[in-house]
Amino acid sequence: MLRPNLFLVIAVLVSVVQFCPCGEAYSESATEREKSSAKKPMPWDLGPGDVDISGYPPEMQSNYEVFAEKCSGCHTLARPLNAPYATPEEWNTYVNKMMRKPGSGIDKAKAKQIFKFLVYDSKKRKLADPDAWERHIEKLISEFQKKYGKK
Ligand code: HEC
Repeated sequence: MLRPNLFLVIAVLVSVVQFCPCGEAYSESATEREKSSAKKPMPWDLGPGDVDISGYPPEMQSNYEVFAEKCSGCHTLARPLNAPYATPEEWNTYVNKMMRKPGSGIDKAKAKQIFKFLVYDSKKRKLADPDAWERHIEKLISEFQKKYGKK
């Protein structure tokens, strides 16, 4: 007659684990893990960490504010600003990926603003002169290899 009770105990334990606030502690440490994995250097981190938005339209300037706040929590802004991604498809992929990381604090509306900024800014700074941009990327990769060795 012990068996049914055992099942009951297991069922109760499972529901306690599911609904107890220990989930919060777990997600906190998932955020910490994400932040420490973001510390692993990438070549794009070595480029400039800001961009002159004074000539950008007002909508893009306010989108930039959201980008600057939300995309600097784990790594610097240099990473997205100097990454070799520039097309809407690429930014769709990466903004979605970053948004889904634990602790990102990025909701759909903010993700959309960030996406719009990155697409606009990439058109201006990256796609306007693809050869110059290519040279910039190659320079960052070679600096990175000098600094950290070939990976
Ligand atoms: C919760 C922490 C976190 C936040 C917030 C975050 N990132 Fe990241 N990001 C990472 C980590 C960790 C990596 C390392 C590669 C990976 O895990 O994808 C990374 C890598 C990147 C890369 C390089 C990807 C590659 O593989 O070359 C880009 C670009 C990037 N992030 C853009 C952004 C943008 C844009 C935002 C804001 C929408 C953002 N990140 C916000 C954690 C974060």
